Amino acid sequence: MIKLSNVTKKYESGNVALNNVDLGIERGEFVFIVGSSGAGKSTLMRLLLREETPTSGRIIVNGRNVGEMRQREIPYFRRTLGVVFQDFRLIPTMNVYDNVAFALRATNVSSKDIRQRVPYILNLVGLQGKARSMPENISGGEQQRVALARALVNNPDIILADEPTGNIDPELSYEIVELLSEINKVGTTVVMVTHEHELVAQFRHRIIRIERGRIVADTGKIGGQRGRK
Ligand SMILES: Nc1ncnc2c1ncn2[C@@H]1O[C@H](COP(=O)(O)OP(=O)(O)OP(=O)(O)O)[C@@H](O)[C@H]1O
Ligand SMILES: [Mg+2]
Repeated sequence: MIKLSNVTKKYESGNVALNNVDLGIERGEFVFIVGSSGAGKSTLMRLLLREETPTSGRIIVNGRNVGEMRQREIPYFRRTLGVVFQDFRLIPTMNVYDNVAFALRATNVSSKDIRQRVPYILNLVGLQGKARSMPENISGGEQQRVALARALVNNPDIILADEPTGNIDPELSYEIVELLSEINKVGTTVVMVTHEHELVAQFRHRIIRIERGRIVADTGKIGGQRGRK
């Protein structure tokens, strides 16, 4: 599903954020990415999304060579992904419902399907009562769940979440990972960056640790052949 071969990312400033990384993630896996601040976690996520291109090496995501993709192909590629950022990136002038529906309106989903799907997803993340609220009038945790709903509504093949629980309390963080785990169980691949060790310890998912641009530990696919390295 995701394959990095010899990937290096050096920013124009000279920072080497990723250094010769090899990584494979299979369809249906749930992977936590952990590591210190500045280790290269967000850089990895931005490369997977094609927000950045690698300086060298090859990146395959969902069957596509991300580095070689043409500009006009990028929006279609991104529609196969569900993306959650730490800073939400909600549209401030749209209410909760429209923030979620917006992601579908950009595709050719019928308005009938949108009217069914958006309430279903809002209910799933526990926001059924907030559909008409504006982002500025709901809590940080609720905004985070809107961002999650928006990522889920397209039925993505892969969810890429960069610290999706960074701004919310531990109990809600647990619930969000539990929700992602449920979605993972029905087939969606999940890659989630987090700082929260306790949260990671509460789930039996693969853990990849990045430090100074390199993978320094990888538990391997949980339930697979490889053990903890
Ligand atoms: N746009 C950029 N231009 C130049 N250097 C950058 C850029 N973005 C990140 N870096 C540098 O690349 C390295 C990796 O950054 P990255 O954001 O990937 O780390 P991170 O693991 O996500 O950290 P955090 O946990 O703090 O979010 C750091 O040294 C950072 O300063
Ligand atoms: Mg980061």
